[in-house]
Amino acid sequence: MHPNVGGLRLVLLRPKILPLYVSLFLLTMLARAGAPPAAPTFNKDILPILQTRCQPCHRPGEIGPMLLITYEQTRPWAKAIVEAVKTAKMPPWFADKCCGQFSTEHSLKPEEIQALDQWVAGGSLEGKKKDAPRPIKWTEDWKIDGPSVVVSLPRPFEVPANTKIDYQYVILPVDLAEDKWASAIEIHPSDRSIVHHAVLYSRAKESTWLRNVPRLTMYAPTPGSMTPNELLQQAATDILAVYTPGSPAAIWPEGMGKKLPAGSDLVLQLHYTSKKTTASDRTSVGINFLKERPARRVLTLQMQNRAIVIPPGASDYHASVSGTMPRDALLLAFFPHMHLRGSAFEYAILQPDGKLETLLRVKPYDFFWQQTYPLKTPRLLPKGTRLVWTGYFDNSANNPRNPDPKAEVRWGEQSWEEMMVGFFDVAVEANVDKVGFFSSPTP
Ligand code: HEC
Repeated sequence: MHPNVGGLRLVLLRPKILPLYVSLFLLTMLARAGAPPAAPTFNKDILPILQTRCQPCHRPGEIGPMLLITYEQTRPWAKAIVEAVKTAKMPPWFADKCCGQFSTEHSLKPEEIQALDQWVAGGSLEGKKKDAPRPIKWTEDWKIDGPSVVVSLPRPFEVPANTKIDYQYVILPVDLAEDKWASAIEIHPSDRSIVHHAVLYSRAKESTWLRNVPRLTMYAPTPGSMTPNELLQQAATDILAVYTPGSPAAIWPEGMGKKLPAGSDLVLQLHYTSKKTTASDRTSVGINFLKERPARRVLTLQMQNRAIVIPPGASDYHASVSGTMPRDALLLAFFPHMHLRGSAFEYAILQPDGKLETLLRVKPYDFFWQQTYPLKTPRLLPKGTRLVWTGYFDNSANNPRNPDPKAEVRWGEQSWEEMMVGFFDVAVEANVDKVGFFSSPTP
Protein backbone atom coordinates (compact mmCIF):
# COMPACT_ATOMS: atom_id res chain seq x y z
CA MET A 1 0.00 0.00 0.00
CA HIS A 2 1.17 3.53 -0.70
CA PRO A 3 2.35 5.30 2.50
CA ASN A 4 0.25 8.39 1.76
CA VAL A 5 -3.02 6.55 1.92
CA GLY A 6 -2.88 6.19 5.70
CA GLY A 7 -2.26 9.92 6.13
CA LEU A 8 -5.08 10.73 3.80
CA ARG A 9 -7.53 8.75 5.83
CA LEU A 10 -6.32 10.48 8.98
CA VAL A 11 -7.08 13.92 7.59
CA LEU A 12 -10.40 13.02 6.07
CA LEU A 13 -11.77 11.20 9.05
CA ARG A 14 -10.59 13.44 11.84
CA PRO A 15 -10.19 16.93 10.48
CA LYS A 16 -12.19 18.55 13.29
CA ILE A 17 -10.16 17.26 16.15
CA LEU A 18 -6.86 18.34 14.57
CA PRO A 19 -5.73 21.91 15.18
CA LEU A 20 -6.13 23.97 12.03
CA TYR A 21 -2.39 24.50 11.46
CA VAL A 22 -1.75 20.76 11.75
CA SER A 23 -4.46 20.09 9.14
CA LEU A 24 -3.03 22.72 6.87
CA PHE A 25 0.45 21.30 7.31
CA LEU A 26 -0.73 17.79 6.50
CA LEU A 27 -2.71 19.02 3.52
CA THR A 28 0.31 20.85 2.16
CA MET A 29 2.45 17.77 2.57
CA LEU A 30 -0.18 15.74 0.78
CA ALA A 31 -0.47 18.28 -1.99
CA ARG A 32 3.27 17.99 -2.56
CA ALA A 33 3.17 14.25 -2.58
CA GLY A 34 -0.28 14.35 -4.09
CA ALA A 35 0.51 12.22 -7.12
CA PRO A 36 -1.58 9.13 -7.73
CA PRO A 37 -0.13 6.12 -5.94
CA ALA A 38 1.70 4.82 -8.99
CA ALA A 39 3.38 8.12 -10.00
CA PRO A 40 6.72 7.14 -11.53
CA THR A 41 9.86 8.45 -9.86
CA PHE A 42 13.16 9.45 -11.40
CA ASN A 43 15.24 6.87 -9.56
CA LYS A 44 12.94 3.92 -10.02
CA ASP A 45 11.28 4.44 -13.39
CA ILE A 46 13.00 7.18 -15.40
CA LEU A 47 16.73 6.68 -14.87
CA PRO A 48 16.74 3.17 -16.41
CA ILE A 49 15.20 4.64 -19.59
CA LEU A 50 17.69 7.52 -19.69
CA GLN A 51 20.62 5.17 -19.15
CA THR A 52 19.87 2.96 -22.12
CA ARG A 53 18.18 5.38 -24.51
CA CYS A 54 19.58 8.83 -23.84
CA GLN A 55 22.94 8.68 -22.07
CA PRO A 56 24.74 7.28 -25.12
CA CYS A 57 24.59 10.91 -26.31
CA HIS A 58 23.62 12.96 -23.24
CA ARG A 59 26.75 12.40 -21.12
CA PRO A 60 30.08 14.20 -20.80
CA GLY A 61 32.10 14.36 -24.03
CA GLU A 62 29.15 13.38 -26.23
CA ILE A 63 27.13 15.29 -28.80
CA GLY A 64 23.97 15.84 -26.68
CA PRO A 65 23.77 19.49 -25.53
CA MET A 66 22.93 18.66 -21.90
CA LEU A 67 23.64 15.85 -19.44
CA LEU A 68 20.86 13.46 -18.47
CA ILE A 69 22.61 11.50 -15.72
CA THR A 70 21.51 12.85 -12.34
CA TYR A 71 18.12 14.05 -11.10
CA GLU A 72 19.50 17.60 -10.74
CA GLN A 73 20.65 17.61 -14.37
CA THR A 74 17.46 16.09 -15.73
CA ARG A 75 14.78 17.91 -13.69
CA PRO A 76 15.05 21.28 -15.54
CA TRP A 77 14.55 19.43 -18.87
CA ALA A 78 11.59 17.34 -17.75
CA LYS A 79 9.00 19.13 -19.92
CA ALA A 80 11.33 19.39 -22.92
CA ILE A 81 12.06 15.67 -22.61
CA VAL A 82 8.40 14.72 -22.75
CA GLU A 83 7.88 17.04 -25.71
CA ALA A 84 10.91 15.57 -27.50
CA VAL A 85 9.92 11.93 -26.97
CA LYS A 86 6.22 12.44 -27.77
CA THR A 87 7.10 14.10 -31.07
CA ALA A 88 9.68 11.31 -31.70
CA LYS A 89 12.38 13.97 -32.04
CA MET A 90 14.40 12.08 -29.44
CA PRO A 91 16.02 9.66 -29.47
CA PRO A 92 16.82 10.33 -33.14
CA TRP A 93 15.52 7.30 -35.04
CA PHE A 94 13.76 7.64 -38.37
CA ALA A 95 12.87 4.17 -39.65
CA ASP A 96 9.11 3.99 -40.11
CA LYS A 97 7.61 1.11 -38.13
CA CYS A 98 5.90 -0.01 -41.37
CA CYS A 99 8.80 -1.99 -42.62
CA GLY A 100 11.91 -3.86 -41.70
CA GLN A 101 13.62 -4.65 -38.40
CA PHE A 102 16.98 -3.11 -37.65
CA SER A 103 19.62 -4.13 -35.14
CA THR A 104 20.34 -0.55 -34.08
CA GLU A 105 16.67 0.34 -33.53
CA HIS A 106 16.60 2.63 -30.51
CA SER A 107 13.24 4.35 -30.53
CA LEU A 108 11.28 4.36 -27.27
CA LYS A 109 8.60 1.78 -26.54
CA PRO A 110 5.10 3.22 -25.97
CA GLU A 111 5.28 2.29 -22.26
CA GLU A 112 8.57 4.19 -21.91
CA ILE A 113 7.02 7.32 -23.43
CA GLN A 114 4.06 6.87 -21.11
CA ALA A 115 6.33 6.55 -18.05
CA LEU A 116 8.10 9.80 -18.94
CA ASP A 117 4.77 11.52 -19.52
CA GLN A 118 3.35 10.34 -16.19
CA TRP A 119 6.54 11.22 -14.38
CA VAL A 120 6.21 14.84 -15.46
CA ALA A 121 2.43 14.88 -14.89
CA GLY A 122 3.08 13.58 -11.38
CA GLY A 123 5.46 16.44 -10.54
CA SER A 124 8.80 14.97 -11.76
CA LEU A 125 9.52 13.30 -8.40
CA GLU A 126 12.99 12.12 -7.50
CA GLY A 127 11.97 9.08 -5.45
CA LYS A 128 14.25 7.07 -3.24
CA LYS A 129 17.97 6.93 -3.91
CA LYS A 130 17.97 3.20 -3.15
CA ASP A 131 15.62 2.58 -6.11
CA ALA A 132 18.17 3.94 -8.60
CA PRO A 133 19.96 1.51 -10.91
CA ARG A 134 23.73 1.52 -10.72
CA PRO A 135 25.28 4.34 -12.75
CA ILE A 136 26.66 3.14 -16.08
CA LYS A 137 30.43 3.26 -16.32
CA TRP A 138 30.83 4.83 -19.76
CA THR A 139 34.24 4.28 -21.20
CA GLU A 140 36.18 6.32 -23.70
CA ASP A 141 37.84 3.10 -24.83
CA TRP A 142 37.52 1.39 -28.16
CA LYS A 143 34.29 -0.48 -28.72
CA ILE A 144 36.05 -3.14 -30.80
CA ASP A 145 38.62 -5.52 -29.25
CA GLY A 146 42.19 -4.43 -29.62
CA PRO A 147 42.29 -2.86 -32.16
CA SER A 148 45.39 -4.31 -33.81
CA VAL A 149 46.06 -1.33 -36.09
CA VAL A 150 45.42 2.32 -35.20
CA VAL A 151 45.96 5.32 -37.50
CA SER A 152 45.24 8.86 -36.38
CA LEU A 153 44.96 12.39 -37.72
CA PRO A 154 48.48 13.87 -37.82
CA ARG A 155 47.58 16.37 -35.09
CA PRO A 156 44.48 17.69 -33.28
CA PHE A 157 42.18 19.60 -35.63
CA GLU A 158 41.02 22.84 -34.06
CA VAL A 159 37.35 23.82 -34.37
CA PRO A 160 36.86 27.49 -33.45
CA ALA A 161 33.72 28.60 -31.59
CA ASN A 162 30.55 29.45 -33.55
CA THR A 163 31.78 28.90 -37.09
CA LYS A 164 30.76 26.71 -39.99
CA ILE A 165 33.44 24.16 -40.82
CA ASP A 166 33.78 22.76 -44.35
CA TYR A 167 34.03 19.00 -44.84
CA GLN A 168 37.60 17.89 -44.20
CA TYR A 169 39.38 15.04 -45.97
CA VAL A 170 42.58 13.39 -44.82
CA ILE A 171 44.51 10.53 -46.44
CA LEU A 172 45.77 8.03 -43.89
CA PRO A 173 48.45 5.62 -45.16
CA VAL A 174 48.21 2.00 -43.98
CA ASP A 175 51.14 0.50 -45.95
CA LEU A 176 49.53 -2.71 -47.12
CA ALA A 177 51.99 -4.91 -48.97
CA GLU A 178 49.28 -7.52 -49.56
CA ASP A 179 45.48 -7.70 -49.52
CA LYS A 180 44.10 -7.57 -45.99
CA TRP A 181 40.65 -8.33 -44.59
CA ALA A 182 39.06 -6.39 -41.74
CA SER A 183 36.65 -8.05 -39.33
CA ALA A 184 35.91 -4.78 -37.49
CA ILE A 185 36.61 -1.08 -38.01
CA GLU A 186 35.94 1.75 -35.62
CA ILE A 187 36.18 5.49 -36.26
CA HIS A 188 37.09 6.92 -32.87
CA PRO A 189 36.94 10.72 -32.40
CA SER A 190 38.85 12.11 -29.41
CA ASP A 191 36.16 14.77 -28.89
CA ARG A 192 32.81 13.33 -29.88
CA SER A 193 30.99 16.56 -29.00
CA ILE A 194 32.21 18.19 -32.24
CA VAL A 195 32.24 15.28 -34.70
CA HIS A 196 28.94 15.29 -36.52
CA HIS A 197 29.82 12.37 -38.73
CA ALA A 198 32.77 10.74 -40.47
CA VAL A 199 33.11 8.38 -43.44
CA LEU A 200 36.08 6.09 -44.04
CA TYR A 201 36.89 5.05 -47.62
CA SER A 202 39.35 2.50 -48.97
CA ARG A 203 41.08 4.21 -51.93
CA ALA A 204 42.54 1.74 -54.41
CA LYS A 205 46.07 2.40 -55.63
CA GLU A 206 44.86 3.07 -59.18
CA SER A 207 42.24 5.66 -58.10
CA THR A 208 43.03 9.28 -58.94
CA TRP A 209 40.55 10.62 -56.35
CA LEU A 210 42.37 13.26 -54.25
CA ARG A 211 45.63 12.04 -55.73
CA ASN A 212 47.12 15.55 -55.66
CA VAL A 213 46.45 15.96 -51.95
CA PRO A 214 49.46 15.14 -49.76
CA ARG A 215 48.96 12.38 -47.21
CA LEU A 216 48.28 13.24 -43.57
CA THR A 217 47.14 16.77 -44.44
CA MET A 218 43.69 18.14 -43.70
CA TYR A 219 42.08 19.14 -46.98
CA ALA A 220 38.81 21.03 -47.53
CA PRO A 221 37.63 20.87 -51.17
CA THR A 222 36.13 24.05 -52.58
CA PRO A 223 33.37 24.08 -55.24
CA GLY A 224 34.91 22.71 -58.43
CA SER A 225 38.20 21.67 -56.85
CA MET A 226 37.47 18.00 -57.50
CA THR A 227 37.18 17.17 -61.20
CA PRO A 228 34.06 15.33 -62.44
CA ASN A 229 36.25 12.28 -62.99
CA GLU A 230 37.51 12.44 -59.40
CA LEU A 231 33.93 12.65 -58.15
CA LEU A 232 33.01 9.57 -60.20
CA GLN A 233 35.98 7.76 -58.69
CA GLN A 234 34.90 8.81 -55.20
CA ALA A 235 31.46 7.33 -55.92
CA ALA A 236 33.13 4.08 -57.00
CA THR A 237 35.29 3.89 -53.86
CA ASP A 238 34.30 1.29 -51.27
CA ILE A 239 33.16 2.75 -47.95
CA LEU A 240 34.63 0.89 -44.99
CA ALA A 241 32.81 2.49 -42.06
CA VAL A 242 30.66 5.45 -41.07
CA TYR A 243 30.64 7.23 -37.72
CA THR A 244 27.53 9.00 -36.47
CA PRO A 245 26.87 10.04 -32.84
CA GLY A 246 25.86 7.14 -30.63
CA SER A 247 26.37 4.63 -33.45
CA PRO A 248 28.01 1.25 -32.89
CA ALA A 249 31.35 0.31 -34.49
CA ALA A 250 31.33 -1.70 -37.73
CA ILE A 251 31.73 -5.34 -36.74
CA TRP A 252 30.92 -7.80 -39.52
CA PRO A 253 29.33 -11.18 -38.94
CA GLU A 254 31.52 -14.28 -38.72
CA GLY A 255 32.88 -15.28 -42.11
CA MET A 256 32.56 -11.77 -43.58
CA GLY A 257 34.95 -8.87 -43.87
CA LYS A 258 35.91 -5.72 -45.72
CA LYS A 259 38.80 -5.99 -48.15
CA LEU A 260 41.67 -3.51 -47.98
CA PRO A 261 43.56 -4.22 -51.22
CA ALA A 262 47.37 -4.13 -51.39
CA GLY A 263 48.65 -0.60 -51.95
CA SER A 264 45.36 1.06 -50.96
CA ASP A 265 45.11 3.80 -48.38
CA LEU A 266 42.38 5.17 -46.18
CA VAL A 267 40.54 8.40 -46.90
CA LEU A 268 38.68 9.83 -43.93
CA GLN A 269 35.98 12.42 -44.50
CA LEU A 270 35.11 14.42 -41.38
CA HIS A 271 32.22 16.75 -40.74
CA TYR A 272 32.80 18.91 -37.68
CA THR A 273 30.26 21.07 -35.88
CA SER A 274 31.34 24.09 -33.93
CA LYS A 275 30.37 24.68 -30.28
CA LYS A 276 30.12 27.83 -28.18
CA THR A 277 33.74 27.28 -27.17
CA THR A 278 36.84 26.36 -29.16
CA ALA A 279 37.49 22.63 -29.23
CA SER A 280 39.82 20.22 -30.96
CA ASP A 281 39.65 16.62 -32.10
CA ARG A 282 42.14 14.02 -33.18
CA THR A 283 40.10 11.18 -34.63
CA SER A 284 41.67 7.73 -34.92
CA VAL A 285 40.70 4.70 -36.94
CA GLY A 286 41.08 1.26 -35.40
CA ILE A 287 41.09 -1.92 -37.49
CA ASN A 288 41.10 -5.60 -36.64
CA PHE A 289 42.41 -7.76 -39.44
CA LEU A 290 41.44 -11.36 -40.06
CA LYS A 291 44.20 -13.93 -40.35
CA GLU A 292 42.65 -15.40 -43.47
CA ARG A 293 40.42 -14.42 -46.30
CA PRO A 294 36.80 -14.82 -45.12
CA ALA A 295 34.18 -16.66 -47.16
CA ARG A 296 32.37 -13.44 -48.04
CA ARG A 297 33.31 -9.91 -48.89
CA VAL A 298 31.20 -6.98 -47.69
CA LEU A 299 30.79 -4.29 -50.34
CA THR A 300 29.05 -0.95 -49.99
CA LEU A 301 27.09 -0.35 -53.19
CA GLN A 302 25.01 2.62 -54.19
CA MET A 303 22.30 3.68 -56.59
CA GLN A 304 21.99 7.40 -57.27
CA ASN A 305 19.71 9.57 -59.31
CA ARG A 306 21.72 12.49 -60.70
CA ALA A 307 18.89 13.60 -62.96
CA ILE A 308 16.87 15.28 -60.22
CA VAL A 309 15.42 18.69 -61.10
CA ILE A 310 13.39 20.01 -58.19
CA PRO A 311 11.08 22.88 -59.17
CA PRO A 312 11.04 26.01 -56.99
CA GLY A 313 8.64 25.66 -54.08
CA ALA A 314 7.73 22.01 -54.81
CA SER A 315 6.78 20.27 -51.57
CA ASP A 316 6.46 16.68 -52.78
CA TYR A 317 8.95 16.18 -55.57
CA HIS A 318 10.18 12.62 -55.75
CA ALA A 319 12.50 10.65 -57.96
CA SER A 320 13.52 7.01 -58.14
CA VAL A 321 16.42 4.95 -59.31
CA SER A 322 16.19 1.27 -60.09
CA GLY A 323 18.63 -1.53 -60.77
CA THR A 324 18.92 -5.28 -61.06
CA MET A 325 21.18 -7.49 -58.95
CA PRO A 326 23.60 -9.14 -61.40
CA ARG A 327 24.40 -11.94 -58.88
CA ASP A 328 23.16 -13.36 -55.60
CA ALA A 329 24.01 -11.12 -52.66
CA LEU A 330 23.17 -10.99 -48.99
CA LEU A 331 21.70 -7.62 -48.09
CA LEU A 332 23.09 -6.32 -44.76
CA ALA A 333 22.40 -2.61 -44.29
CA PHE A 334 21.13 0.69 -45.74
CA PHE A 335 22.39 4.27 -45.58
CA PRO A 336 20.28 6.90 -47.39
CA HIS A 337 21.84 10.22 -48.31
CA MET A 338 20.20 13.44 -49.48
CA HIS A 339 20.77 17.09 -48.55
CA LEU A 340 18.70 19.78 -46.85
CA ARG A 341 15.55 19.32 -48.98
CA GLY A 342 15.39 15.56 -48.48
CA SER A 343 12.19 14.64 -46.64
CA ALA A 344 11.89 10.84 -46.95
CA PHE A 345 13.72 7.91 -48.51
CA GLU A 346 12.43 4.46 -49.44
CA TYR A 347 14.23 1.24 -50.28
CA ALA A 348 12.01 -1.29 -52.05
CA ILE A 349 12.06 -4.47 -54.10
CA LEU A 350 9.88 -4.79 -57.19
CA GLN A 351 7.98 -8.07 -56.96
CA PRO A 352 7.23 -10.08 -60.12
CA ASP A 353 3.55 -9.07 -59.81
CA GLY A 354 4.57 -5.40 -60.09
CA LYS A 355 4.03 -4.56 -56.41
CA LEU A 356 6.69 -2.79 -54.40
CA GLU A 357 7.80 -4.36 -51.14
CA THR A 358 9.29 -1.62 -48.96
CA LEU A 359 12.35 -2.75 -47.02
CA LEU A 360 13.05 0.55 -45.24
CA ARG A 361 11.21 3.84 -45.11
CA VAL A 362 13.17 6.69 -43.52
CA LYS A 363 10.60 9.33 -42.70
CA PRO A 364 11.21 12.10 -41.93
CA TYR A 365 14.67 12.15 -43.46
CA ASP A 366 16.93 14.50 -41.53
CA PHE A 367 20.22 15.69 -43.06
CA PHE A 368 21.63 16.19 -39.57
CA TRP A 369 20.82 12.65 -38.45
CA GLN A 370 22.14 10.42 -41.21
CA GLN A 371 22.70 6.89 -40.06
CA THR A 372 23.19 3.25 -40.99
CA TYR A 373 20.20 0.93 -40.77
CA PRO A 374 21.57 -2.63 -40.39
CA LEU A 375 18.98 -5.37 -40.96
CA LYS A 376 18.35 -7.55 -37.92
CA THR A 377 18.35 -10.54 -40.25
CA PRO A 378 20.32 -10.29 -43.52
CA ARG A 379 18.21 -10.97 -46.60
CA LEU A 380 19.17 -12.86 -49.71
CA LEU A 381 18.76 -10.85 -52.92
CA PRO A 382 18.76 -13.50 -55.64
CA LYS A 383 20.31 -12.63 -58.99
CA GLY A 384 17.77 -10.65 -61.02
CA THR A 385 16.14 -8.93 -58.02
CA ARG A 386 14.78 -5.53 -59.05
CA LEU A 387 15.64 -2.76 -56.59
CA VAL A 388 13.85 0.59 -56.51
CA TRP A 389 15.04 3.44 -54.31
CA THR A 390 12.90 6.61 -54.05
CA GLY A 391 13.87 9.97 -52.59
CA TYR A 392 11.31 12.61 -51.58
CA PHE A 393 12.15 16.31 -51.44
CA ASP A 394 10.49 19.37 -49.94
CA ASN A 395 11.64 22.52 -51.69
CA SER A 396 8.87 24.65 -50.20
CA ALA A 397 9.15 27.40 -47.63
CA ASN A 398 7.53 25.01 -45.10
CA ASN A 399 10.80 23.11 -44.91
CA PRO A 400 12.69 24.97 -42.17
CA ARG A 401 16.04 23.67 -43.46
CA ASN A 402 15.44 24.88 -47.03
CA PRO A 403 18.23 27.33 -47.92
CA ASP A 404 16.28 28.84 -50.86
CA PRO A 405 12.66 27.85 -51.70
CA LYS A 406 12.78 30.00 -54.86
CA ALA A 407 15.59 28.02 -56.45
CA GLU A 408 15.30 25.21 -58.98
CA VAL A 409 17.60 22.59 -57.53
CA ARG A 410 19.75 19.98 -59.26
CA TRP A 411 22.36 17.43 -58.33
CA GLY A 412 25.50 18.83 -56.71
CA GLU A 413 28.08 18.32 -54.00
CA GLN A 414 27.26 21.46 -52.03
CA SER A 415 24.67 21.34 -49.28
CA TRP A 416 22.52 23.95 -51.06
CA GLU A 417 22.42 21.62 -54.07
CA GLU A 418 20.80 18.19 -53.84
CA MET A 419 21.73 14.54 -53.93
CA MET A 420 19.91 11.28 -53.91
CA VAL A 421 22.06 8.32 -53.05
CA GLY A 422 20.93 5.04 -51.55
CA PHE A 423 23.95 3.21 -50.15
CA PHE A 424 23.54 -0.44 -49.26
CA ASP A 425 25.87 -3.08 -47.89
CA VAL A 426 25.88 -6.56 -49.38
CA ALA A 427 27.98 -9.66 -48.79
CA VAL A 428 29.18 -11.56 -51.87
CA GLU A 429 31.80 -14.27 -52.46
CA ALA A 430 35.21 -13.07 -51.31
CA ASN A 431 36.79 -13.23 -54.79
CA VAL A 432 34.29 -10.75 -56.27
CA ASP A 433 35.89 -7.36 -56.90
CA LYS A 434 32.97 -5.56 -58.46
CA VAL A 435 29.29 -6.35 -58.39
CA GLY A 436 29.06 -4.74 -61.82
CA PHE A 437 25.86 -3.08 -60.85
CA PHE A 438 23.85 -1.12 -63.41
CA SER A 439 21.14 1.26 -62.41
CA SER A 440 19.09 3.86 -64.15
CA PRO A 441 17.23 6.90 -62.90
CA THR A 442 13.49 6.89 -63.32
CA PRO A 443 11.51 10.08 -62.83
C1 HEC B 1 22.19 9.80 -30.96
C2 HEC B 1 22.39 10.81 -29.94
C3 HEC B 1 21.23 11.18 -29.05
C4 HEC B 1 20.39 10.35 -28.36
C5 HEC B 1 20.43 8.83 -28.29
C6 HEC B 1 19.48 11.20 -27.63
N1 HEC B 1 19.76 12.52 -27.89
FE1 HEC B 1 18.71 14.12 -27.22
N2 HEC B 1 19.85 15.37 -28.36
C7 HEC B 1 20.93 14.99 -29.10
C8 HEC B 1 21.47 16.16 -29.79
C9 HEC B 1 22.70 16.20 -30.68
C10 HEC B 1 20.65 17.24 -29.46
C11 HEC B 1 20.77 18.70 -29.94
C12 HEC B 1 20.43 18.84 -31.37
C13 HEC B 1 19.00 18.55 -31.69
O1 HEC B 1 18.09 19.03 -30.96
O2 HEC B 1 18.76 17.85 -32.67
C14 HEC B 1 19.63 16.70 -28.55
C15 HEC B 1 18.61 17.47 -28.01
C16 HEC B 1 17.73 17.01 -27.05
C17 HEC B 1 16.72 17.81 -26.40
C18 HEC B 1 16.47 19.27 -26.66
C19 HEC B 1 15.43 19.30 -27.77
C20 HEC B 1 15.07 20.66 -28.16
O3 HEC B 1 13.93 20.79 -28.61
O4 HEC B 1 15.91 21.56 -28.06
C21 HEC B 1 16.06 17.02 -25.53
C22 HEC B 1 14.93 17.41 -24.58
C23 HEC B 1 16.63 15.69 -25.64
N3 HEC B 1 17.64 15.73 -26.57
C24 HEC B 1 16.22 14.59 -24.92
C25 HEC B 1 16.63 13.31 -25.18
C26 HEC B 1 16.07 12.15 -24.52
C27 HEC B 1 14.99 12.18 -23.45
C28 HEC B 1 16.71 11.07 -25.05
C29 HEC B 1 16.44 9.61 -24.74
C30 HEC B 1 15.08 9.18 -24.72
C31 HEC B 1 17.66 11.55 -26.04
N4 HEC B 1 17.59 12.91 -26.07
C32 HEC B 1 18.48 10.73 -26.80
C33 HEC B 1 21.44 13.71 -29.21
C34 HEC B 1 20.82 12.55 -28.74
